[in-house]
Amino acid sequence: MPVATEIHPVEGVLAESTADRVALVVRTGADGPQPVMDGVGLSPTDLDARFPASVARLLDTYDFSGKPGQTVEFPVDLGRGPVRLTFLGIGDATPAEMRRAGAAFARSVRGSSRAAVNVAAPEHGPAALTAFVEGALLASYTFTLAETPRSAVPAPRLDLLGSAAEEAADPVRHGTVLARATATARDLINTPSAEKDPAWLAARAEEIGGEAGLSVRVWDETALKRDGFGAILAVGQGAVRPPRLVELSYTPENPAGHVVLVGKGITFDTGGLSLKPNDNMKLMKTDMSGAGIVLAVLAALRDLGVRTRVTGLMALAENAFSGSAVRPGDVLTTYSGRTVEVLNTDAEGRLVLADAMGYAVAELAPDVLVDVATLTGAAKVALGTGIGALFATDDDLAAALVDAGERSGEALWRLPLQEEYRDTLDSPVADLANVGVKSDYGHPGATEAALFLREFVGSVPWAHLDIAGPGRSMSEEGVLSKGGTAFTTRLLLRWLTER
Ligand code: BES
Ligand code: MN
Ligand code: ZN
Repeated sequence: MPVATEIHPVEGVLAESTADRVALVVRTGADGPQPVMDGVGLSPTDLDARFPASVARLLDTYDFSGKPGQTVEFPVDLGRGPVRLTFLGIGDATPAEMRRAGAAFARSVRGSSRAAVNVAAPEHGPAALTAFVEGALLASYTFTLAETPRSAVPAPRLDLLGSAAEEAADPVRHGTVLARATATARDLINTPSAEKDPAWLAARAEEIGGEAGLSVRVWDETALKRDGFGAILAVGQGAVRPPRLVELSYTPENPAGHVVLVGKGITFDTGGLSLKPNDNMKLMKTDMSGAGIVLAVLAALRDLGVRTRVTGLMALAENAFSGSAVRPGDVLTTYSGRTVEVLNTDAEGRLVLADAMGYAVAELAPDVLVDVATLTGAAKVALGTGIGALFATDDDLAAALVDAGERSGEALWRLPLQEEYRDTLDSPVADLANVGVKSDYGHPGATEAALFLREFVGSVPWAHLDIAGPGRSMSEEGVLSKGGTAFTTRLLLRWLTER
């Protein structure tokens, strides 16, 4: 189940709301917390009279500063009988703070049938409201295969009250599209691999893409062979369930440029014959995050009115351990014609990406190429689970992606495509080896993988997003749910919308 919660901006005030839970937002002022009175429907004095002490006194008693996401709850009668009222901190109401507050709000009103909050005030701009909605909807995302839900059920409806409810309509719609796209990707990522094989994911692409007005082309194993996708085939050859390549096309009228997005879609990564230990393997159903994100992004473009032509490629294979699996030492021929010696079958993501990127460069004439992949444990070691690694051949592209990430709450940090490390990928028997063979530089894993991919982009400006760290969450907190995070979905949509 993705997000069952709906958000509606509503002309109205908390004092007259029929919601069973209400929240009143509080800013951190220079002289202490400042309740926002727009959308409350009572004067400050009238509001004070409903509580056992003045609001200022109560907030002080509870050490409530109004920092973003802070909550404290009181039973109060605003005029329609007793109701649970939450004071909700929004800091200075920047977009990042409003995102946190939105998430805290949605989490604090789980279990209710309808909740209201006074955030549709003119003082909160559109970007802040969009972020609040993103936060509230992402925190309302749940995924379970169990009959009974594991945690309190998210409220089905949230009302945003205040005098600017009408102007809130567009920002709310925008935030809703961003959050729902993220939820679509999370559902795909969280689906167990027993169900999720390459053909299943290709079928979801046809279904979701079709509904979103995209044209969808699927290569099965026969077509992959015919067209020379030797790397995708090699990675998938050990699996009972064969690989696929999916192309999704979004073509607006008079498009401004052409972006190609490529997603790593390993539906399960055992490591292949270079087998992973179980601790590293047990979460590898999420190794198709990149492909899931690419599908969800493409499916949201029409709703956001994106003006750029965008093509999405999902490189889908299961990296299995079996007698027919590709072996260390085998040499494969990629779509581009370049050969690769497979020295470690667990470095499979770069192989399927090389085929898809080679195809993009040869056949699609992109102005920009961006790939997304849960590619290396090294990126996770370098940056942890909170930041994605970015590599790019173009400074403007890198800056635009970092900026979109900042505004989405999906931080990226650029790492270098260090030239002197390149020859570590030389192979005596093929054009390239799939892992670094010299240890002179201590095996900078994320950089080696990026340098490998760079060999397939020709002169097209290219960025690579390695999301192995932030791609999964171990906790249920803020905008994150346990499992796949679909990190970079909103970043890519913001970037494409503003391009
Ligand atoms: N899917 C993994 C990377 C990964 C690691 C994703 C941890 C999420 C969390 C990838 O296919 C992989 O196995 N990479 C190897 C590359 C190595 C063999 C050069 C790695 O990072 O260990
Ligand atoms: Mn691997
Ligand atoms: Zn992998």
